[in-house]
Amino acid sequence: MANNTDVMEKIVSLAKRRGFVFQSSEIYGGLNGCWDYGPLGVELLRNVKEAWWQAMTYREDVEGLDASILMHPTVWEASGHVANFTDPMVDCKECKARFRADQVEDAMCGSAAYKGRKAHKCQSEGKFTEARQFNLMFKTYVGPVEDAGAVVYLRPETAQGIFVNFLNVQTASRQKVPFGIAQIGKAFRNEINTKNFLFRTREFEQMEMQFFVKPGSDVEWFNYWKEQRIAWFHGLGMSKDKLRFHQHEPDKLAHYAKDAYDIEYLFPFGWGEIEGIHNRSDFDLSQHEKYSGKSMKYFEEQGKEKFTPFIIETSAGASRSFMAFLVNAYNEEEAPTADGKTEMRVVMRFHPKLAPTKAAIFPLVNRDGMPELAKKIEADLRPHFRVFYDDSGAVGRRYRRQDEVGTPFCITVDSQTLTDQSVTVRERDSMKQERVAAGQLLSYLRDKL
Ligand code: GAP
Repeated sequence: MANNTDVMEKIVSLAKRRGFVFQSSEIYGGLNGCWDYGPLGVELLRNVKEAWWQAMTYREDVEGLDASILMHPTVWEASGHVANFTDPMVDCKECKARFRADQVEDAMCGSAAYKGRKAHKCQSEGKFTEARQFNLMFKTYVGPVEDAGAVVYLRPETAQGIFVNFLNVQTASRQKVPFGIAQIGKAFRNEINTKNFLFRTREFEQMEMQFFVKPGSDVEWFNYWKEQRIAWFHGLGMSKDKLRFHQHEPDKLAHYAKDAYDIEYLFPFGWGEIEGIHNRSDFDLSQHEKYSGKSMKYFEEQGKEKFTPFIIETSAGASRSFMAFLVNAYNEEEAPTADGKTEMRVVMRFHPKLAPTKAAIFPLVNRDGMPELAKKIEADLRPHFRVFYDDSGAVGRRYRRQDEVGTPFCITVDSQTLTDQSVTVRERDSMKQERVAAGQLLSYLRDKL
């Protein structure tokens, strides 16, 4: 395959051309760090989130939640975000660009005079300002008056909505510790430098689950969730050799963490975190108890004991996972053509559960009643799966178009269908074809998908 920069460029180009991801506000020159999900992208993203929701909440010990994005501003004082959620920022006096001081080595200078030069060249020539701390939270105001008393923040993580609702959910659902609360939602960070497509953006989605446990059992549950989470990525087809754990060094742990591992994926630009698993100790509930003046303790009936639960957090980026699944699916390979030659095909090997379209239906030719039969198959399948009808161009071309968006099955109505009502079903990865009775297609696809 081509080199890593080429591969990333090809994936970004395919993502745009085939309607996975568009630049936000593109006609106005785009808005840095923001992206729009197109018709296929929104399906893939929904499938990723649905797979996560099923894995995390279709179990007896996890409840769902959908908290609001705007929260009481004291939440962010209690959480430590007002004081600590900062990155060190420097300005290049030459090109006027801003950089994260700890990422200057990778950054490119912005001025025409220095075009193509690494930003740290400027640094070595003494052109950077002193580093200063920059808070990553987006600030806005509630109501019409823009004064200090009206300040609220767009949440930089979904986790706090879960912490402040811990006792509401526990009481309403009559759960007993240990149990978890899961949430999927948007988060916002005013990143100094966005980069690598969807990897570091200013608006993104998180899939977070906070598991509340009795102090002393936290290490056991931490290990349990670590294994569950990596198994989830494996189960959805992520290459095992491209996933690894990275443990945070004790001096690099977040202010709330007792232990932390990242799940990292090997992107074309290197290893990058797609999910963080933290043992957050009793930090969050203790802080909210302190700042709100309300008890956040749990009363355990069995031992007649009151305690502040420890929290094991699994925090995955939906957008970053989406990107990892997109990159992981991308393959270029030689494929045979109808005239016995070979050609290069691009195939997105999405796990069938994630594939945006599950099956495409083609009439071999646009006559002899084939389109009518193909349309009927489409109508029969559409209530059950996302399917696509295509009658334009040679069948080989139509296969290639579906390979490129990762459709697992292509169904062709041909002359034999007219006599015995069977169709060919071609499988994306093996390219093998088999004949299936048209009336059996629904159960056939259900089994395979
Ligand atoms: N509640 C813990 C928390 O938010 P984090 O490591 O800051 O932890 C968790 O974020 C996940 O959110 C990351 O593993 C990543 O997948 C995603 N994420 C964080 N910042 C992001 C950004 N700027 N753009 C896209 N995804 C991001």
